[in-house]
Amino acid sequence: MKKVLITGGSEGIGLAFSEAYAKQGCELFLCARRMDHLQKAKEELQDKYSASVHIYAMDLSEDGASEELFRQLKEEHIDILINNAGCGYAGAAVSIDLDKEEAMLHLNMIALTVLTKLFASQMAERGAGIIMNVASTGAFQPGPYIASYYASKAFVLSYTRALQEEIKRTGVQVYCLCPGPIDTDFYEKSGGRMSSYHMSAQDCVRYALRHMRSSCILIPGFLNRLLYYLPSSWKMKWLSYHKK
Ligand SMILES: NC(=O)c1ccc[n+]([C@@H]2O[C@H](COP(=O)([O-])OP(=O)(O)OC[C@H]3O[C@@H](n4cnc5c(N)ncnc54)[C@H](OP(=O)(O)O)[C@@H]3O)[C@@H](O)[C@H]2O)c1
Repeated sequence: MKKVLITGGSEGIGLAFSEAYAKQGCELFLCARRMDHLQKAKEELQDKYSASVHIYAMDLSEDGASEELFRQLKEEHIDILINNAGCGYAGAAVSIDLDKEEAMLHLNMIALTVLTKLFASQMAERGAGIIMNVASTGAFQPGPYIASYYASKAFVLSYTRALQEEIKRTGVQVYCLCPGPIDTDFYEKSGGRMSSYHMSAQDCVRYALRHMRSSCILIPGFLNRLLYYLPSSWKMKWLSYHKK
């Protein structure tokens, strides 16, 4: 039975990953901040799929939290890591609350890097494992009025592609999932407005799991894949982030 760690596994895209792996009979390790949401996800996954689920209430935007999560899970020998927890804030770059923005950058980049590094080393020693880092189509171009979020996702994409090149001979598979707009609470929380072109979290995850092994960069949705190849300056001008 594969052991799967999903950060942000209690809601949205992370919960869709949790369901997909529960259906496959995997043992799940879910991390998010709110215990009541984790508990609810755990009960649903147990009831629906008889899954074995372990939950960890942690704020990964805090210094040392990712190292602590690894310390608690080291002996489990996690087979699959889904680095999904992330957040973003829409607004003028100079006006977004600095404390919130720093926590976002820590979560989206530092926590993802620390968890990747620690679990990838362990997986490389065993000669097997899968790491999926969740970026965004926002990684493909600068994003006026959501500047630091898009920049953080550009980091995830660049880091993951480089790591994949370094690590491919160890037996560890590394992927970067770049969803376009997905119907979750993300927009409500970020202060943005969801585009009319969007897909469900379940479809996004189905695409990711079906196309793993074909490419390091996984982009669900035909238009989103097209977007990847358009010039960055064009995208920045015409596809600016929809603020509420
Ligand atoms: N929705 C989209 O359109 C979209 C598009 C492209 C990429 N993405 C990316 O996909 C990922 C998941 O997004 P989503 O739409 O599923 O968002 P979501 O519905 O808001 O879910 C986010 C999950 O992450 C957890 N989380 C948030 N902050 C955390 C923290 N500091 N420490 C630990 N866990 C934390 C949340 O639980 P708690 O709040 O309880 O901590 C929740 O489980 C993110 O990386 C996002 O950037 C989303």
